[in-house]
Amino acid sequence: MSGNQTAGIPGAFELFRAAKVLTRAERAHLAGRLSSAPWARVVAALRIDGTSLLDVGCGPGLLAHLLDRSGYSGHYLGVDPDGRKVGRARAWLGETPRRAFRAVGVEEVEERGFDQVAIVDVLYLVPPSERAVLTGEMVSRLSPGGSLVALTSGGGPRWKRAVDRIQERLAVAVLGFTRGAVVAPCDGAEVAALFSRAGLLDVRVEDAGEGYLHGFELVSGRRAGPGGGF
Ligand SMILES: C[S@@+](CC[C@H](N)C(=O)[O-])C[C@H]1O[C@@H](n2cnc3c(N)ncnc32)[C@H](O)[C@@H]1O
Repeated sequence: MSGNQTAGIPGAFELFRAAKVLTRAERAHLAGRLSSAPWARVVAALRIDGTSLLDVGCGPGLLAHLLDRSGYSGHYLGVDPDGRKVGRARAWLGETPRRAFRAVGVEEVEERGFDQVAIVDVLYLVPPSERAVLTGEMVSRLSPGGSLVALTSGGGPRWKRAVDRIQERLAVAVLGFTRGAVVAPCDGAEVAALFSRAGLLDVRVEDAGEGYLHGFELVSGRRAGPGGGF
């Protein structure tokens, strides 16, 4: 049974139909991403009530779609340096006064004060030496008390690491679905250390890979400020 079998998360076939403006290959890629990652856990880690959210490395907009289906009522900005992915997100979901996509890196986002920043399955494409800077850029876009949530590979039995590496290399080098500077695993412990060094509080790592072929960890932290910060 998939851990995505939760209200608000569609089945892969339903998603395939919902994205009919995209090509078959693009829809198949989306459906594959949906069924291969614990999206119900990601959506459950985010607040859906009228808050603002920055989605870093938004790809073709899957998180935006799932949030929409879950009743998300805030402002959403998805950014990704890959213009092809952003073009796909715009073609599929469109933009509204509450939802926009931009083909930029997070360092080019001028807005500050997001209640939440999410980064889903992106850090393995960022060179290890650049991850602290990227984390700092994300934290600086958060409002005081705002939260940063990352889904990353890791956790579970050791054989899952090998599966992760093969699939990640395939997506980047062979299939060309994903653009990234490197393919270098980044597990929950590394992400938690990055979050703590960037000054986030209440940093937590949760195993989110049960029931999936890949190992996943969900890492969250909160910027100091209203709600209990120092
Ligand atoms: C595996 S895809 C995940 C897309 C989306 N978050 C999802 O889960 O469906 C990785 C995404 O990270 C983007 N990416 C690569 N390097 C990045 C960086 N330095 N900053 C932000 N996004 C990046 C890629 O363009 C790609 O869209």
